[in-house]
Amino acid sequence: MKLSRTVKRALSVTMALLCLPLLGCANNDPEQEPSISLGVAIYNKDDTFISNMMLSLTEIAARYEQDTGIRVYVNLTDAQENQTNQNKQIDRFVAMNYDVLCVNLVDRTDASYTIDRAMDADIPVVFFNREPVQEDLQKWDRVYYIGTDPAENGRLEGQIVVDAYNADPARFDKNGDGIVQYIIIEGEIRHQDAMIRTEVSVQTLKDAGIELEKLDGGIASWVRSQAAALSDQYFEKYGDQIELIICNNDDMALGVVDTVERRGLSFNNIVGIDGTPAGLAAVKEGKMLGTVVIDYAAQAKLIFDIACALAMDKDPKEIADISADRTVRAPMYVVKADFIP
Ligand code: GAL
Repeated sequence: MKLSRTVKRALSVTMALLCLPLLGCANNDPEQEPSISLGVAIYNKDDTFISNMMLSLTEIAARYEQDTGIRVYVNLTDAQENQTNQNKQIDRFVAMNYDVLCVNLVDRTDASYTIDRAMDADIPVVFFNREPVQEDLQKWDRVYYIGTDPAENGRLEGQIVVDAYNADPARFDKNGDGIVQYIIIEGEIRHQDAMIRTEVSVQTLKDAGIELEKLDGGIASWVRSQAAALSDQYFEKYGDQIELIICNNDDMALGVVDTVERRGLSFNNIVGIDGTPAGLAAVKEGKMLGTVVIDYAAQAKLIFDIACALAMDKDPKEIADISADRTVRAPMYVVKADFIP
């Protein structure tokens, strides 16, 4: 709660993501106390899951302000996938003496810049979604991480396929060879969620006794259009041989759906993760087998609550289930298409 007058003059109370270009332009009564200031740095505002989470965060902040009368200043910056940009944004937040930094790293292996600056200024940090390595997390006891459990994401995604397979193996094994020929479309190369989801989803199918053959796989960086282009190449190359496409998130699964529709195919053995509104709609319409809903609103609430506790010098353990390494895992659940038991 040590907001400087400069910050107060510079910031809007609660900034919707749509207002990003206006960052720093709005002004509200600078003298009103008490207040909380959060410097929130995201890796890329075009990422669907992250932008949904940020909309929730700004709504939660606005509601909190209404309910408590405590002013909340949220300054949201977009690094446009460049860690150097993000480091400069962190410098600015530190210079303006924000109460808490909430950071969605561009490069999750490069958290030390943020942590070092924050430690020098004694500003706690809540990392989210892109998990710093343990060595960085252990650098300072005022560093937290909030994210999902990628192994559980992968297990639940694999289980959607297992349930669909057990109900109707012929839905997958179209050529009757007793083996499911599959393709995997992954997020970023070094992202913990991509690596672990891939490994565990495939392993879950194997553990359930489903024979698998990987036809192909590639990186589409979480992006719908990239997955559409990649899957177009796969359908061109493998055609009917493709019996399953596993995607590390919903936007990429939707990219596959786009390709399926553009090619006039009836293929829907596609799974995703996130539970974005568009992903859930595609599951409901039977265009995907299912998705693992990572509750982004619940995740935003955790970020906000923990940041507020830190800003008010309270122990975040009082409001969330925090593990010994100061990480918090957000809840998730499965949504399957109607035809899967
Ligand atoms: C994942 C999410 C993806 C993407 C990524 C960005 O957890 O499932 O859709 O948002 O984070 O880091």
